[in-house]
Amino acid sequence: MAQQNSRKVKKIFNRISLKYDFLNNLLSLGLHNLWKKNLINLLKPKDGEIWADLCCGTGDLSFLINKKVFPNGSVLGVDNAYEILDIARNKSKRISRNVIYWEQKDIFKIDEQQKFDGICMSYGLRNLDSVENGIKKVFCLLKENGRVGFLDFNHPRRNSFPSIFQKIYLRLIVVPVAICFNLGDEYKYIENSINVFPEGKKLVSIAKEIGFKDVKYKTICASQMGILLLTK
Ligand SMILES: C[S@@+](CC[C@H](N)C(=O)[O-])C[C@H]1O[C@@H](n2cnc3c(N)ncnc32)[C@H](O)[C@@H]1O
Repeated sequence: MAQQNSRKVKKIFNRISLKYDFLNNLLSLGLHNLWKKNLINLLKPKDGEIWADLCCGTGDLSFLINKKVFPNGSVLGVDNAYEILDIARNKSKRISRNVIYWEQKDIFKIDEQQKFDGICMSYGLRNLDSVENGIKKVFCLLKENGRVGFLDFNHPRRNSFPSIFQKIYLRLIVVPVAICFNLGDEYKYIENSINVFPEGKKLVSIAKEIGFKDVKYKTICASQMGILLLTK
């Protein structure tokens, strides 16, 4: 079942890859760039550090980290969907001051001998077969005192104002716009994935159980998005 889901997710992201950046900008009115910058500012990557951007998609976070760890550090962007990663690869060819490496891989298959000072993931955790296993995998890939930040949709309390707003936004804006680009089914998937995504409090308790010593969850954008910040 898990493998089936992972194949389905890969297919979705290969299919939407060409429109992915355009629709992200349109549907968030460009705000996703600010949320991603916010995440990286909270994580504070430094020159010389070794970072990974897991589920990197078209590489937004990798490019932001690149600016912070250049010239002595590096960023590894990992995604298992070839076509979306190819867009990231092509974008990075246009940047000369570049310490980014790309790898097409399932994040669960990354060799755990490899250790990172920091890891980030935006809109990836919700798409994994298991959120808990995803956080565990990240724990194993971090050096001692390593830090990680996950940015994703927040799963608001049922029937709360943010929850109602989120449903209206997804059903009346996101899906109809996606239908215009022949990607309706792919974007309908977002609401289902949020429904089964743990709420902030649950993410905090999962991270503590796994062994992270410093655990924080904050919501942004009127509780529509959430950032989980952890230190090993
Ligand atoms: C919503 S996109 C996010 C892309 C990018 N991080 C961003 O914020 O724009 C989710 C990405 O996770 C990738 N993904 C999902 N499961 C994965 C896995 N097990 N291993 C690697 N990548 C995965 C998908 O291929 C997709 O590109």
